[in-house]
Amino acid sequence: MLELSKVSKDFDGLRAVSNVSLSVKQGEIVGLIGPNGSGKSTLLNVISGRFPVTAGRITFQEHDITPLSPDRIFHLGLGRGFQDPSLFYQMTVLDNTILPAKAQKGENPLFAPFKRFWRQEEHQLAERAYEILTQIDMGRLFGQLASELSGGQMKLLDIARSQMGNPQMLLLDEPTAGVAPPLAQSIFEHIANLRQNENMTFLIIEHRLDMLFNFVDRVYVMHMGELLAHDTPDEILENAEVREVYFGD
Ligand SMILES: Nc1ncnc2c1ncn2[C@@H]1O[C@H](COP(=O)(O)OP(=O)(O)O)[C@@H](O)[C@H]1O
Ligand SMILES: [Mg+2]
Repeated sequence: MLELSKVSKDFDGLRAVSNVSLSVKQGEIVGLIGPNGSGKSTLLNVISGRFPVTAGRITFQEHDITPLSPDRIFHLGLGRGFQDPSLFYQMTVLDNTILPAKAQKGENPLFAPFKRFWRQEEHQLAERAYEILTQIDMGRLFGQLASELSGGQMKLLDIARSQMGNPQMLLLDEPTAGVAPPLAQSIFEHIANLRQNENMTFLIIEHRLDMLFNFVDRVYVMHMGELLAHDTPDEILENAEVREVYFGD
């Protein structure tokens, strides 16, 4: 479904991602791990179109998405979540969920003055948003301001938002960072349910390996911008090179 071929990304002479090739099949949950600064977030930003690649090629389904904008990539069905959710804190949970949805006519300056054109669509978006929020047990919080949420609830809201365009695949950057263990577990259970029930595909950066490894099919390990290893969770835990750079063995 997603394929990276020899992808590199430089920042002012610093090679943050170097020659990375990887692939994710439809319906898989794949982990991306590595020490701080190893290039994981940069790689996600390159895939989602936020940063242009320096070299290499990225395909999503049959499309070459290498040169596309984040907006175009999102519309092809590849969504993402953020390490730091950057919510609209003075807006409600429901409005935060709806905001990034596809093709909102009310935002189009041509339609904005004509409420009757977008009232129907906004109503449908609100219903879908409420449904998603209910799945993650946040339905009752729909009218609350985002600023009133706990850190864990903010991460959940970010995942809810990323689902709004009904993406076929999601890229998630540390979906449980700063989240208490029981809620972190339920975030991963939610991800597993999305795979099970909606056949969604995931590439997930996570530093909580004990949690991650219960849910992923395969793991890629990055170190200093390069791919160090790629295997099942059990094999990764046994890999001497990985243990050395990652666990300090
Ligand atoms: N926008 C940026 N501009 C310049 N350097 C960056 C930028 N983003 C990341 N880097 C650098 O790229 C390297 C990899 O960072 P990052 O991808 O955030 O690692 P990780 O997510 O694995 O912790 C680091 O050296 C970081 O300082
Ligand atoms: Mg990061």
